[in-house]
Amino acid sequence: EETGKGAYDHFMLKEIDSQPESLRKTIQGRVDPEAGEVTLDALEEGDLEGVEQVHLVACGTSYHAAMFGSNLMNRRGIPATAHRANEYTDTIPVDGDTLTIAVTQSGETADTLTAIRRAEKKGAQTLAVTNVIGSTVAREVETPVYIRAGPEIGVAATKTFSSQAVTLSLLAEHFADDLPQGTPREDREEFLAALERLPEDIQRLLDTTEAERLSRHHLDKEAFFFIGHELNYSVALEGALKFKEITYEHAEGFPSGGLKHGPLALVTPETTIFTLLGSGPSTQTRSNAEEARARGANIVTVAPESVNVDDVADERLTIPDTHPDLTSLLANIQLQLVSYYTARQLERPIDKPRNLAKSVTVR
Ligand code: G6P
Repeated sequence: EETGKGAYDHFMLKEIDSQPESLRKTIQGRVDPEAGEVTLDALEEGDLEGVEQVHLVACGTSYHAAMFGSNLMNRRGIPATAHRANEYTDTIPVDGDTLTIAVTQSGETADTLTAIRRAEKKGAQTLAVTNVIGSTVAREVETPVYIRAGPEIGVAATKTFSSQAVTLSLLAEHFADDLPQGTPREDREEFLAALERLPEDIQRLLDTTEAERLSRHHLDKEAFFFIGHELNYSVALEGALKFKEITYEHAEGFPSGGLKHGPLALVTPETTIFTLLGSGPSTQTRSNAEEARARGANIVTVAPESVNVDDVADERLTIPDTHPDLTSLLANIQLQLVSYYTARQLERPIDKPRNLAKSVTVR
């Protein structure tokens, strides 16, 4: 049944496990790899006329999906920036050339609604990437695009992050075709085919027990850092947010190159650093992880199976090989599992962490 826990102890694990299915719904009817086409029914011809820049506004996990999406849009030549909704103030220049996208699972987050209303008032075009049909944001924006993840009960967002990131990657492909600055990718067929394969890749990962086993080795650590570059940076932030929300342990995400500019002072042999590596050389991330390792940190790499990590990793989490722009989404699932199993062993109230709410409707 859709809204019960079924055989699971926690909604969070049920929702992590349901990602192959929820993502199939997210992409259903929207991608055609052979034709190299993306179809988003909500967007009609002429809807994006005059758009010269894209702002994405969001909070919490949705902000990390927005960062992921803006990075993909930038790769397609689109000037796009992600903003924490509560910092999308009047100082940010917005006008009729701007498309502001609210990324919000619930569609009810007060900070996000305030941001999108501010943009609308300044003449921006508005779009929402949301899960809840008929939510406030869906009613208020010009174009609601649904992520179709189904109801999410756990306070810690999991499946909705994946569906938001995939929906935003479809929007990026659409903008590449429809916005004047857009540059369609040369490997569109391969990218769309990899998107279609994502549910299977996730299932393969979910069938392993690496994350569960690994989490037992780190229960006594004092701090948990998550590092990555570009797309992997957004997932490093998301990994750390999830980890602190449900384990109550000290967790922070950093851009890998930022470690040496301050956080390295905190690194001791009691620190675990989850290091997100892509399928390419990831030189910056590796060298910064090596720096931390020389100070005694435990390095756990999260990397595609074909990538050799022997020179830098104390332990590794493996993800299936996929298109380089989708590696981070698989890494994120390993990190969801690590957070879940760590919190479980620490006997935390996983579905209802202290002081947090699923949807924050106050500013
Ligand atoms: C709260 C929740 C987070 C969520 C954020 C944004 O902080 O605890 O899990 O990511 O709100 O929620 P939204 O519904 O706008 O995606």
